[in-house]
Amino acid sequence: TYQFFLGDRLCRYKNYNFVVGHATPEYIDSLQSFEIRDSDVFLVTYPKSGTIWAQQIIISIYELDGHVNKDSFNWQKMPWLEYKICEYALRPSPRLFTSHLPVHLMPPGLKDKKIVYLMRNPKDNVVSYYHFSKAFADLDTPKIAPSSFFDHFREWHSSRDQYNILFLTYEDMIMDLKGVVKKLSSFLGKNPTEAAIDQVVEKSKFATMKNNPKANYEQIPREKFSGKFLRKGQIGDWKNTLTVAQSERVDQILQEKLGDLSLKFIWE
Ligand code: A3P
Repeated sequence: TYQFFLGDRLCRYKNYNFVVGHATPEYIDSLQSFEIRDSDVFLVTYPKSGTIWAQQIIISIYELDGHVNKDSFNWQKMPWLEYKICEYALRPSPRLFTSHLPVHLMPPGLKDKKIVYLMRNPKDNVVSYYHFSKAFADLDTPKIAPSSFFDHFREWHSSRDQYNILFLTYEDMIMDLKGVVKKLSSFLGKNPTEAAIDQVVEKSKFATMKNNPKANYEQIPREKFSGKFLRKGQIGDWKNTLTVAQSERVDQILQEKLGDLSLKFIWE
């Protein structure tokens, strides 16, 4: 059985931090012989970038075709590749996966497969992560598990010519959800009607997801996690939280790590 549990036994392995119990070095290594199928879809994010939101959109798009997975929850319908919840080789196609892994730990054979990379401005990302981490009962101090936000993006971005990656941002989704649903549908090779697109948009709105037990991740026992995955869902909450010095520190690291890419983030 699979348990939602974030212990504080962080392990650094092959330049990546993860929580032992969720994944093990042996399992991560075994992904090197994982057999990818042409129809597999991978949603890749650095945590707290809007992962469960994009999951809900992708699942809803596939469900329009009658690809209705018998599983109940989104974490079962589109499981994390690195957290083995069942025998993935036995899953029917198309298999939908989520992952926070860096490129170098992903299975080989990703070329031409559908990969969606979702990112969020790093100030809102760190604030969301802070609230998330603070809500775990067994963590004394909030921790950021999976290595650096900036390195994660840099590595995936550097692979853009090698792989078939659709880059999306959380801010795009906030500002034009319908546009993103259309873009995603066409990337996934679907051509839904206008009404079907509206249906996906409706299912993916913050308020709808918050009230949908299959999508809101509220099944995690409260004594382990007292927070909400669907917390505020806005652009710019960092302004209420970060000090000027903290905000400047993010600007500085962003410049050092990704400055050459001249990324244009929406900050508010
Ligand atoms: P906040 O903590 O800023 O509210 P992840 O899924 O990667 O853990 O990301 C969680 C963040 O995505 C949370 O941000 C959450 O509120 C936001 N989110 C999830 N679903 C959303 C939706 N439908 N609309 C807007 N934001 C959403």
